[in-house]
This record gives sequence, structure tokens and C-alpha cells, in this order.
Amino acid sequence: MAIDIKTEEKIKLLEDKYAQMGQDINSYLDGLLLSNYLTYWDYTQVETLLTLQNPKTDFPDEMIFIMYHQITELYFKLALHEFEQIGNNGPNILPNGKLVGWKEKLEPEFFAERVGRINRYFEALTKSFEIMINGMEKEQFLRYRMALLPASGFQSAQYRKIEICSTDFFNLVDKEVRPTLKDKNPSIEEMFTNIYWNKGATELSTGKKTLTLLQFEKKYAKDFIKLANEYKTKNVWAKYKSLPEADQKGVKVINALKELDVNVNINWPLVHYKSAVQYLQQNTEDIAATGGTNWQKYLPPRFQKRIFFPELWSEAEVEDWGKGWVVTNVFRENK
Ligand code: HEM
Repeated sequence: MAIDIKTEEKIKLLEDKYAQMGQDINSYLDGLLLSNYLTYWDYTQVETLLTLQNPKTDFPDEMIFIMYHQITELYFKLALHEFEQIGNNGPNILPNGKLVGWKEKLEPEFFAERVGRINRYFEALTKSFEIMINGMEKEQFLRYRMALLPASGFQSAQYRKIEICSTDFFNLVDKEVRPTLKDKNPSIEEMFTNIYWNKGATELSTGKKTLTLLQFEKKYAKDFIKLANEYKTKNVWAKYKSLPEADQKGVKVINALKELDVNVNINWPLVHYKSAVQYLQQNTEDIAATGGTNWQKYLPPRFQKRIFFPELWSEAEVEDWGKGWVVTNVFRENK
């Protein structure tokens, strides 16, 4: 049987590919003859994925809680996949379709589009958070959560990595401490000691770090410091500043960054906060009595004032960070 000209060309290309690495194409063709057709279940590893939902109690609603956390972590992973590409200027795909490492230069269109992808992931998460807010019975939640202590979403490492990849590490320092470190060119380690999230995991009654935080630091502190050093020049803000000045003024680029700031630092934190209000609202004295944290004074963005790109906002916008939304969407509905 005569070989189709296109097939012949492909075989030639394959021969070249393997010859370049000193390999014999025939061994690889044997492998192809022996290998099975790919299936959906092998490709997606869906069966393994579906073994990972293991609630700690028999309350049916705990399944929703564990799975929604897992869904969120997958979206966070999608976001981090884009941060890595932005940090490295994007994949270098040659005109012949070959993928050869990273590009040397960041293109503003690529930058805006990839930040846009991250925005879409966060918009999906913000919208779907209703599954938490209204999708579980409070009575069940308050029972099964006792079996999960001291674990908390606070210990999501990917959430912190998203912050580290987004901004200059200085912007993640506790807002009270920032002015004292401002002109001192602090090291990543020094800034990490004063990271904003310590405030969310300090016991109300004793002022000590909670077990939740101690365990989180033991597991991840080294990774965070390493990542923060690596992303000093690769975080989204640093990459933005590496663009030519004219490109930095581009509306698409600026809007993508502002949306990222609002999505990660206002919209998601607020729907998340709304779920805490829904299930856990109680007096500060009661929280202190149970060794709890002051999440009511910590979670709302207007208290944290975590802002990735402060230079892009006016003084008034920084001053009012997260305020309007809190009033209309959280407090009014819960009064
Ligand atoms: C009913 C649902 C939820 C409630 C009541 C809730 C409650 C809380 C509370 C009270 C905190 C403060 C720290 C603490 O006291 O442990 C917190 C922190 C946190 N939770 Fe949740 N949470 C819920 C769902 C989720 C989900 C689905 C995620 C997704 C991963 C998540 C991620 C986080 C993160 C990242 C923090 C740290 C926020 C920060 O430091 O600003 N939470 N949560």
C-alpha cells in the first residue's frame, strides 16, 4: 500500500525529532503499536478525584463543605498556573508550533489577557459562594465544624501564594506596621514576621498565636518565604512595571489590574465574610470565651485594607476600600 504523502512527511519529522536526541524512531513506533487508546477516565483521573471526598462526620452537609473547599482550591490552582506564566513572560511558541521555554519579553496584550483569566476564576468563585452562604443547614454546620477544629480555610496555602504572586510583598505587611518599615528596605523574613494574616489568628483572650496559625507556619513558612523571594521581580505588579511606560498606561492593562484587586481583595473576601456572618455570628465576648479569633474585626476588607496595587487607586478609593459593599450586602441583610 502506497504511503500518503502527508504521512510520509510526518514520519520524516518524527525521524528528525528522535534523531536529534540520538533515538531510533522504530522503538517509539513499536510503543505506539502497543499503547491503548486514551480514555476520558484515564485522562481526567476522575476516579481518583472522586476518592478524595472524605468527611469527618456523618452529617450529610459536611460533604458540601469539603467539596466546595476542594473546588475552590482547584480554581486557586488555575489562578496560580496563570501567575507562573505571567511571571515568566508566557510560553514561547515558535511559528512552526514548537514550544521552547519562556518568552524573553512580556507583551502587554498577553499580560492583560492572562490577568483577565484570573479575574474570571475569581468571578466564578465569588458567584458560586452562595453554595456556602445559603446551601447548608446551620444546625448541621455548627455540629460538624466541631469535628474539624483547629483546621480552617485560613490555612489555604494557595490563597497566600496568590497574594505573594500578585503584589510587592510589602503590601502584605500588617497595615499598622507598614509605616515603621517603609524606609528600611526590610528583608522578606522581616516582612513575613509582620504579615497581615497574623492578626486573623490571634486569640482574643490571650493575644497568643492560635494553634491554627502555628501549624500553618510550621508547614508552609519556608515555602512562602522562598516564593516571595522568587517573585520579588516576577509578581504581577513588578511585571506591570517592567512594561514600557506607554503600555503601562493602556486601559486594558490598568482595568485588568484594578479588577484583580477588587476580585481578590474585596469581592471574594466579602462573600466569604458573609458566610461567616451567616453561620458564626455571635458576641465578641462569647468568641473570646471559646478561645476564638476576632474574625469580625479581621475578615472585612475595610479593616484589612489589603490592596495589591495601591498606586492605581485614588486616596479616597483607598480610604473607602470595601466599605460600600459591606454596608449594602452584609450588614443590611443581617439586621
Ligand atoms: C460556611 C463557610 C465558611 C465559614 C463560616 C468560614 C469562616 C472563616 C473564618 C471565621 C475565618 C477566620 C479565621 C478563623 O477563625 O479560622 C476564615 C478564614 C479563611 N477562610 Fe473561611 N469560611 C468558610 C468557607 C471557606 C471556603 C469555602 C474557603 C475556600 C478555600 C475559605 C477560605 C478561607 C481563607 C483563605 C481564610 C483566610 C482569610 C484571610 O486571612 O483574610 N473559607 N473563614
